[in-house]
Amino acid sequence: MTEERPPVCSYEGSDYQTSFWDQGGRAYEDRVEVIALERLMPAGGSLLLELGAGAGRNTPRYQGFERIVLLDYSRTQLCQARDRLGDTPKYIYVAADIYRLPFVPGLFDAATMIRTLHHMANPELALRQVRQTLQPGATFILEFANKHNIKAIVRYALRRQEWSPFSQEPVEFAELNFDFHPKAIRRWLGDNRFQIERQLTVSHFRIEWFKRHIPLEWLVRMDSLAQQTGNLWQLAPSVFVKAIAVGEGVTALEGAFFRCPECGHYPLQEAPAEVVCSSCGRIWPYQDGIYDFRG
Ligand SMILES: C[S@@+](CC[C@H](N)C(=O)[O-])C[C@H]1O[C@@H](n2cnc3c(N)ncnc32)[C@H](O)[C@@H]1O
Repeated sequence: MTEERPPVCSYEGSDYQTSFWDQGGRAYEDRVEVIALERLMPAGGSLLLELGAGAGRNTPRYQGFERIVLLDYSRTQLCQARDRLGDTPKYIYVAADIYRLPFVPGLFDAATMIRTLHHMANPELALRQVRQTLQPGATFILEFANKHNIKAIVRYALRRQEWSPFSQEPVEFAELNFDFHPKAIRRWLGDNRFQIERQLTVSHFRIEWFKRHIPLEWLVRMDSLAQQTGNLWQLAPSVFVKAIAVGEGVTALEGAFFRCPECGHYPLQEAPAEVVCSSCGRIWPYQDGIYDFRG
């Protein structure tokens, strides 16, 4: 198990879903993300891992999957997701740190990570963790915030911004909020045995003036067209990547699901209100429909 524990951007108690999405004037961003996901997601599968699921805004968009694990570090975000989506066997709610994923290797046939990598101070470690949980051939849909976007390039050219959008290191524009260079993302994915199948650039018109003066339907249609240039160049503030897990990998041990994030042991013993690691003795609570592997 990794000893490294980079800091986590806390959403505990946050009203992110309401203030940012439901009442935040972001209908355009939401609509164009739906289009990108429809283009990239496999039609279906058996078990999907949604990393940084938040309040479950995107979860209903993955309906083709038999079961979905919603993983988030914030318990209150997961409570909101559970209240929206319901406590059905289709959804498994897991509070855990992406840097210490509590799953046996090779468990999932797909994973998504939308608007979450931008909180990762160590994105390579996060991607390595994700890859371990995936079967060979699994699909991974990753969204990242792109530092090499037109607005940043213009601002840099006009000397209104100090950091260069052309350099490959991440830029931390606010505490634990990072923009990444597409080349760096491609390199990290390749290093972790992901093969990129398709890239879509998204949210090209994420500028207040456009959103105020151009009808939503037009903006969405224009973005839908522009998304398709994503394999050629990436100049939009958001990029969606479809990658396939390639190379060596394990298929999960029959019947095993959780792995101890403390010592790496599996399988764990499940009791009604907890999950127990027989190797290190850690007890991970299961309360109100949420497994808790933090701590
Ligand atoms: C900007 S929200 C995005 C939520 C959702 N994916 C969406 O697009 O609506 C980022 C989410 O990532 C979660 N998060 C941040 N760092 C995390 C970590 N290290 N492990 C697990 N979740 C994390 C936060 O709690 C938050 O819910």
